[in-house]
Amino acid sequence: MSELKGLRAVVTGGASGIGAATARLLAHRGAEVCVLDVAPRSVTEPLHGCQADVSDDASVRAAIQAAVTAMGGLDILVNNAGISAVGRVEDNPDELWHRVLDVNVLGIVRTTRAALPHLRASRHAAVVNVCSIAATAGLPQRALYSASKGAVLSLTLAMAADHVREGIRVNCVNPGTADTPWVARLLDAADDPEAERAALDARQPLGRLVTADEVAAAVVYLASPAAASVTGIALAVDGGAQGLRLRPVAGI
Ligand SMILES: NC(=O)c1ccc[n+]([C@@H]2O[C@H](COP(=O)([O-])OP(=O)(O)OC[C@H]3O[C@@H](n4cnc5c(N)ncnc54)[C@H](O)[C@@H]3O)[C@@H](O)[C@H]2O)c1
Repeated sequence: MSELKGLRAVVTGGASGIGAATARLLAHRGAEVCVLDVAPRSVTEPLHGCQADVSDDASVRAAIQAAVTAMGGLDILVNNAGISAVGRVEDNPDELWHRVLDVNVLGIVRTTRAALPHLRASRHAAVVNVCSIAATAGLPQRALYSASKGAVLSLTLAMAADHVREGIRVNCVNPGTADTPWVARLLDAADDPEAERAALDARQPLGRLVTADEVAAAVVYLASPAAASVTGIALAVDGGAQGLRLRPVAGI
């Protein structure tokens, strides 16, 4: 498939999970792709790998410049890098609040700020932020993480308004709980990983976790010229978790 041929993309956090699936799919559809990650060792050709920490402005600027130099420009920015935090509002120290907001929110600010001059030169400029169902539904034990993703949702809308007249579209994807190494780590840390996995599956109206490839398909759609009239939206890929209210017995 070559619908994205000639387009150049950067995917932050693209060495694992949703970011890796997105980088692969962008490349499969014909785009040239550079992965920005703190640990890009697993990134293989045809993807470019670039070491960068989205919480470090100098490292982000250098990586975006290196990506633009390698690819000859930039059309698509996928802001996917993010970290988790578990707990109620009283459970996490200030240092962790600063750290998670720094990566999940300011990470997008830094990457987009560095990318904008290059996106302005593109005829198909698109930014896609990977947000979360935690931005729109109250999930237990996710106070800090949810606050960070709520900020990502609002930032997405504000950026979409600011840049629409420059021809830059900005959208976000809101995944439900997705089967990635991130969730595997959370399960490993649980007292009973099997019971925890069953509880997560059961929370989904579809009865299973979302896959990274399903989220990637939504990100790539929003990034592509096929979505040329789509800006300022949040596309949920969550197995129905946000919108559906099922009764306990299916079918009644
Ligand atoms: N997995 C889920 O259930 C789920 C649900 C909703 C939203 N999300 C969001 O999807 C995104 C990706 O999640 P995932 O499940 O694929 O996670 P993951 O842990 O599998 O991958 C995250 C990637 O981001 C990179 N990264 C982390 N901190 C970074 C930093 N400071 N700078 C650069 N790279 C960094 C990691 O090295 C890793 O490659 C995150 O923004 C997350 O909040 C995940």
